[in-house]
Amino acid sequence: MDLNQRQLLLQAVFENAPLGIAIADSDGRFVEVNQAFLDMLAYAREEALTLSFIDITHPDDREETRRLSDEARLGKINSYQLEKRFVTRTGEFVWAIARLTVLRDAAGAVRYWLGIIENIADRRQAEKERQQMAAQVQQAQKMEAIGTLAGGIAHDFNNLLMAIQGNISLLLLNKEPHHRETTYLKNVETAVQRASELTRQIVGFARGGKYEVRITNLNQVLAKTADMFGRSKKEITVHTHLEKNLWSVEADQSQIEQVLLGMFVNAWQAMPDGGELRLTTTNAVVDPNDHQKPPDTAAGRYACISIVDTGVGMDAAVQARIFEPFFTTKTGGQATGLGLSAAFGIIKNHHGFITVQSQPGRGSIFRIFLPAAAQVPPPPPPPAQRRSDKTAHTILIVEDEEIVAEIGMQMLERLGYRALVAQSGAEALALFSQHQDEIDLVILDMIMPSMGGGVIFDRLRSLKPEIPVLLSSGYSLNGQALDILKRGCRGFIQKPFNIEQLQQKILEILTPGNSVIR
Ligand SMILES: Nc1ncnc2c1ncn2[C@@H]1O[C@H](COP(=O)(O)OP(=O)(O)OP(=O)(O)O)[C@@H](O)[C@H]1O
Ligand SMILES: [Mg+2]
Repeated sequence: MDLNQRQLLLQAVFENAPLGIAIADSDGRFVEVNQAFLDMLAYAREEALTLSFIDITHPDDREETRRLSDEARLGKINSYQLEKRFVTRTGEFVWAIARLTVLRDAAGAVRYWLGIIENIADRRQAEKERQQMAAQVQQAQKMEAIGTLAGGIAHDFNNLLMAIQGNISLLLLNKEPHHRETTYLKNVETAVQRASELTRQIVGFARGGKYEVRITNLNQVLAKTADMFGRSKKEITVHTHLEKNLWSVEADQSQIEQVLLGMFVNAWQAMPDGGELRLTTTNAVVDPNDHQKPPDTAAGRYACISIVDTGVGMDAAVQARIFEPFFTTKTGGQATGLGLSAAFGIIKNHHGFITVQSQPGRGSIFRIFLPAAAQVPPPPPPPAQRRSDKTAHTILIVEDEEIVAEIGMQMLERLGYRALVAQSGAEALALFSQHQDEIDLVILDMIMPSMGGGVIFDRLRSLKPEIPVLLSSGYSLNGQALDILKRGCRGFIQKPFNIEQLQQKILEILTPGNSVIR
């Protein structure tokens, strides 16, 4: 091969190489660059030939580039490799691996710099996405574990509270209103209520606990809550902007109100010197690749509520922890740090998600996404049966916790009902088949060992399809309660309940024509 031909071939290799290649003189100024180099940095050849390696290096990477180049110039090294950012003609930066080799003259001085530059922007991007995904999965697992723990505690705790509340209700019934011990008992009752409020929030965080689900227009829920809130907090201005044709969602309205109020209070607390609270509803189609969407939620149609404040904002470290139960930055002992963790749990139970954007001093944007409902109305539940041939109704209470069963029975008797008690699924079915003509209502605990509330419910229904069932629980596993409610159960009562609440639920169900939960 003659020299000419060889040069032509090498020229072709240079121009067609998929890597950027640039040759610079001893000052670092380019004398030869190939097409891949020009494409990567969006320069025309003439422009590129007026520049040096330092000119196209990102300011933050210049120092390291200079250090290595000096070592090469001094002869300490003959080549180096550096992962760094180059700046394109339009000012964007591109991640690349630069491999620099020094070509020296006979005296050992730098004659040329040969740079081979590999664009790794795609690799860096993929790596970043993988890390984000891993962090999200880890966050989801952490929340899941806390949820399971919180749920377990809430269940046992509510049964204990039920026992305390029940005994107090019974004691109070025996006391004159002005008896001196009445005050003490009322104090205990207040403490039980506060404890149950705390568990309610924890259960909100845990899975389950979404009981009164209806087709809901979030505009109404938002307007109502905002109105209530705005009237009590004059120092901030509330602006509401509602999407006219907002998609409906399936939601437990009082839980959504709890979420919104918690967030409004947070916003208000973040604006101690006053400010603006902007509330907006929109329809949103969430893309499968949307990076804000947690991995365990579906893509598709969502109704979205944005809550935007002009308050103190949060840094990234705080943002990473705000949904953890008991995480709070508020001092003074008033805050429990349960607001957002309950919100997280509630929205997750609704198969939705919450996103947050914030910067210190720049306010915060919270967005709640709830999946749009399919447009089919639920089937109406069967009407309540009323027996006219006797005065006292008979109620079967199915409850595995002996102490709770006992209290339940005594409360029912105090209310003038005849009570039957079963402490297991098998016992319940036996009692029910024996007395099914007399039994007007079954109060069913949902979590029972061996035979779950759902199975008992179905068996009772197969014995007598119209029998009304009132579900009771301190906590629902995996949305079981909702499932049973959807199968035509007549209502739900949350433990711990007092005698008045029990009476009210029973009347709601046994009074004909009452509307019920689906
Ligand atoms: N709108 C907001 N602006 C700034 N920081 C917020 C905002 N909302 C929440 N935070 C931060 O998130 C933390 C957790 O909020 P969360 O509602 O769970 O608990 P809390 O408000 O501290 O206590 P609690 O709600 O139980 O009274 C807050 O302490 C605060 O640091
Ligand atoms: Mg709060």
